[in-house]
Formats: sequence, C-alpha cells, structure tokens
Amino acid sequence: MKALIPAAGLGTRFLPATKAQPKEMLLVVDRPAIQYVVEEGLASGADEVIIINSYGKKAIEEHFSPDPELVKILKERGKADLAALVEYVGSLNVSYVYQTEARGLGDAVCCAANEVGDERFYVLLGDVLVPKNNMLPQMKVVSDAHGGASVIAVMPVPDDQVSRFGVIAGVEVSNGVWKVTKLVEKPAFEDAPSNLGVFGRYLLSPRIMEILKTIEPGVGGEIQLTDALDALLAEEEVYALVIDPNDGYDTGTPESWLETNNTLFELRKSENRIWAR
Ligand code: G1P
Repeated sequence: MKALIPAAGLGTRFLPATKAQPKEMLLVVDRPAIQYVVEEGLASGADEVIIINSYGKKAIEEHFSPDPELVKILKERGKADLAALVEYVGSLNVSYVYQTEARGLGDAVCCAANEVGDERFYVLLGDVLVPKNNMLPQMKVVSDAHGGASVIAVMPVPDDQVSRFGVIAGVEVSNGVWKVTKLVEKPAFEDAPSNLGVFGRYLLSPRIMEILKTIEPGVGGEIQLTDALDALLAEEEVYALVIDPNDGYDTGTPESWLETNNTLFELRKSENRIWAR
C-alpha cells in the first residue's frame, strides 16, 4: 500500500517564514514536520511514501536524499550518532510526483493516480502530526472489517471551527465508527450536518482517483477531496473513525505550530528523550 503526502501548497499562513523555505520543513522540536509524517506512513505499513511536491520545493527532496559527504565529515569529527541520524533520514523510502499548479487537495491526490494503481492507499496531510503513529493502523482495521471500504479520520470540533473542516453526516454503526452518508467541505455552521470534522488522515479506495478526474472545482475554486468522497458514496461505502484528539497535533497555523512544539517538547522531556549532542 502507498502513502501519499500532499506538499505542494504555498504555505501562505506562515509567510514570511515560508518565502524561501517550504512550510513542511519548519522545525517541530528536533526534525522537520514532514519527517514525522513520512515516518508515520512507513510505520503504518506503507511500502512507499510518495510526496506530492511542487517543482519549487527542492529542500524537501534534499532532506530525504543521502548525503555521504556530510556523513563522512561527521564521522571524522567523532559524531557517529549524528552521522547515523543523517544516514537514516536519507534511507527512508520516499519518492515524488509533481503538482504543477496549486489546484486543491483533490487535484494533488489525483497526481499520484498512476503510482497508486488499483490498491487502497493512505493520504496523510502534513498539517497534522501523529507522533504515536497509531491512527492509520486503526483505520485499516475498520477498512478490513468492511470489505476494504474507504475510511476517514474525524474528530468533534467546536462550533466556531466547523467551517474550517470537511464535515460528515452519518450513522454510528459501532463504538466510534460511523457509516458516512454525506460529506461537505467547509460548510457554514448552520449548514454543517454534524460537528465531526475530517482530520487529515484517509485510507481510500482506488476508485476515488477516477472520480477525482471528473470533479468540478468546489469551495475556494479548488478540486476538493471531500467532494470526490461525497460522490464516491453513490458507488461505495465510506466509514469514518472518530479519533482521540490527543493523538493528533495541528501545525497548520503559526499558533498551533507553536503549541505543538511546546507540547511535544514537554512530552519528550518527560520521556527523557532530549539528546546529548
Ligand atoms: C483539508 C481538507 C478538509 C479537512 C482539513 C483538515 O482542508 O480539505 O476537509 O477537514 O484539511 O484536515 P485545508 O485545511 O487544507 O483547507
């Protein structure tokens, strides 16, 4: 199974920090945000992580490329632990496809249609970190129990935040698992069918790629993955898993990025995992 990480966005909420540096490369405690997401995909049973990149963001590719020269220098200076860290990052199984224009999340996912083929696949949005790597495996259990159906992670969101998310309607079929009957991207609070917001982790049926090719631009003039999932409901079952809000950390705005840095830093300290260098 492949894991897709869309990363071709402009990072406008973080300007000017993202003028010369991709948002995905911003530091979260000890590594760039996107490294958590790649590690999560690989830890969740994906055989390959495919980053959907834009041509301008070379720093992401450089981060995941081997750097024998740096490794050599570090070893010569007696920094074997850091050399191992650099070798490890360069060895992660990451490849790239390119989105030429920022036409929305649905369009970005569709750029990897050939790589995905006819298998289910994961989509991981980089704005959300799941350091325990425990969300996708739970979603796979739900998918397997329902004949390989698509599963999306959702969480209850406060009323004043509903319009920031994709929102589902559905029926709870077992503890925390909903059979989805409708999806709406960024509804006004009055139009939202529930307060369950889509939370940046998806396990999708390959059929969604065909649907994405036919979807018209939606909210914000962008091709929305949420709209394609709503259309998929006419053909296939879709489930939603209500996730524990403590398992996911938002880094999508400067405020939430700072809070996530603080929380994860405190967590690391309590686990005694701050490194001597
Ligand atoms: C995207 C999705 C939306 C989802 C959100 C949070 O929106 O389109 O359905 O709820 O991520 O995971 P974005 O925040 O990229 O505008």
